[in-house]
Amino acid sequence: MRGKFITLEGIDGAGKSTHLPWIAEWLQAQGHTVVVTREPGGTPLGEMLRDLLLAQPMHCETETLLMFAARREHIDKVILPAMGKGHWVVSDRFTDATFAYQGGGRGIPSSKLEALEDWVQQGLQPDLTLLFDVPWEVSQARLALSAVHDRFEAENQAFFERVRNAYLQRARAFPQRIRVVDASRPIAAIRETVAAILGELE
Ligand code: TMP
Repeated sequence: MRGKFITLEGIDGAGKSTHLPWIAEWLQAQGHTVVVTREPGGTPLGEMLRDLLLAQPMHCETETLLMFAARREHIDKVILPAMGKGHWVVSDRFTDATFAYQGGGRGIPSSKLEALEDWVQQGLQPDLTLLFDVPWEVSQARLALSAVHDRFEAENQAFFERVRNAYLQRARAFPQRIRVVDASRPIAAIRETVAAILGELE
């Protein structure tokens, strides 16, 4: 049986990376073999592209194309093979991030992103996307704890407001797939919500 594909999204500092190991363990406890991966990245080439994307200034269309290039590799080498074996794939970000960051944040038209999505994904969509939603102020307080900031984390409030709004707009457009989790609450409350949503997937 084909495994499920779950993605985690949210603005930088929303806390999704904190919740990811717990989500993987929760799914394992239900008897699934879980493959944890991330975008950009997830393959040796994808991780090289990630290093470039997070550090190197570039045109916003170059950025978009490299995100999809890394994704093409990721789908081919990691996501589809794992799902084919019946494993559940949990990815820290996927294409909703491109619609939010490159679309909302940088202003790339959705029509261009949709064309690339069709080309690269050939119909592949996550079975479930957890959108960890926090106001900018909350994310900033979390990001302030780390000394080094990459090219995206260094963006200003207006950028992150656009990214957040684009995520929420996608959640309204795809309510069956994208579930918004209020991630400004204490960890225990967030876990309870996430477990309830994951339980519906079984
Ligand atoms: P991460 O720090 O959550 O792993 O993600 C790395 C950064 O890459 C994050 O700031 C969001 C950004 N990103 C995009 O701009 N577009 C994308 O398609 C993806 C997957 C990530």
